Amino acid sequence: MDVFQIDGPVRLAGSIRVNGSKNAALPIMAAAIMPAGKSVLKAVPHLLDISVCRELLSQLGCKIERRPNGDLAIDSTVIDNPIGEYEIVRKMRAGICILGPLLARCRRAEVSMPGGCAIGDRPVNLHLRGLEALGAKIHLKGGYIVAEAPDGLTGADIFLGGPFGSTVLGTANVLMAATLARGRTIIESAACEPEISDLANCLNEMGAKISGIGSPRLCIEGVAELKPVEYEIIPDRIEAGTFMVAAAITAGELQIRNCRLDDMMAVVHKLRAIGVTVEPDRAGCTVRTDTVIKTADITTQPYPGFPTDLQAQFMALLALAEGNSVVIEKIFPDRYMHVAELNRMAANLRKEGPTVIIAGVKKLIAAPVMASDLRASAALVLAALAAEGTTTISRVYHIDRGYEKIEERLNPIGAKIVREKA
Ligand code: EPU
Repeated sequence: MDVFQIDGPVRLAGSIRVNGSKNAALPIMAAAIMPAGKSVLKAVPHLLDISVCRELLSQLGCKIERRPNGDLAIDSTVIDNPIGEYEIVRKMRAGICILGPLLARCRRAEVSMPGGCAIGDRPVNLHLRGLEALGAKIHLKGGYIVAEAPDGLTGADIFLGGPFGSTVLGTANVLMAATLARGRTIIESAACEPEISDLANCLNEMGAKISGIGSPRLCIEGVAELKPVEYEIIPDRIEAGTFMVAAAITAGELQIRNCRLDDMMAVVHKLRAIGVTVEPDRAGCTVRTDTVIKTADITTQPYPGFPTDLQAQFMALLALAEGNSVVIEKIFPDRYMHVAELNRMAANLRKEGPTVIIAGVKKLIAAPVMASDLRASAALVLAALAAEGTTTISRVYHIDRGYEKIEERLNPIGAKIVREKA
């Protein structure tokens, strides 16, 4: 397992490009199961989670090829094994999003029930409720979700809200299945995340009839079949937000290219409120900090609210603010594995249930720390860039799940990150 040695403090300056979105690419790869034929996806990032998804689709029968120009070609002419194995799904929860497409295409699917993970309980009851509303018969067998619809699916009115609001992958699953159902489906309380809009746009290119894209009410007129597409994935707003924090925490100046500020209003608003300059330009924006970071109160919410996937990174930044800040996690109330690790680096964070109170400190101090999940790990990298001394981060594979070669991209703009094979 690789380890990062990160020397700090550094000041980042220069230009960095954001890659295609992981969380848009994963359900869109699953959508490519539905039309029989070869779809070509552009801007799919080179990440561990994408490799796991490739493995999953290959097991179903897909032939997948990464072309020299980076495009990912998925040939789903034959799907002869509609089973999502535990060994693969346990590595990546997003594997659950093959359930809807398999059910729609093969009228039967068996997908391992995903377990919990470092960010807490992650139930799939809403996914199943939505698919049952479309007429699927679902039962659990040996840890697998077995879903069947021998006569096909039928459109329905579905309320998909849960105790924590909408569900992103649940919406993806039901939306994909509904495109091939007979008749009309309404999904109310659908997730509005840009990744879901990207999926819906891609499905429409395949011939689906989805309206209300970007709103909490999606309307889907079922069609008899979908056709393969060539489609480009949107830029990753979470990676962009992570780079924005990197500029801010190192009192640096970064031009962030291939970034859609329109998808990031809550984040940009928060950055400006704490004294970070964000100047839009044609490619994206330039982010700069030359004053002390001010305090903030952050509550994570479904889109367009502040994203849970940037909560940890902002906590690293607020650890250095002048005064007390408060973070409330409303999506995954246990998503705080980074708190104890940041405290090892001399941050002053106190967790009270789903809330963390952050007493700003003047400096962070390097320490050996452990990456626990993807975004928590990103927060540790950010803290290490600003901390005095050499921080050792172990279990770097968590970072590789969501950030492509992060050290090779940050080092040219001033970071000092060395990857060691442990
Ligand atoms: N929930 C239920 N029942 C369900 C599904 C979800 O109660 O059937 C609850 C969850 O426990 C949570 C809330 O609803 O409290 C929202 O979870 P959601 O289903 O939206 O999460 P997800 O679809 O499993 C995606 C992203 C996550 C991101 C969340 C929230 C992908 C591959 N994953 O997960 O991304 O944090 O939405 O925005 O798109 C990451 O990239 O690091 C990551 C964890």
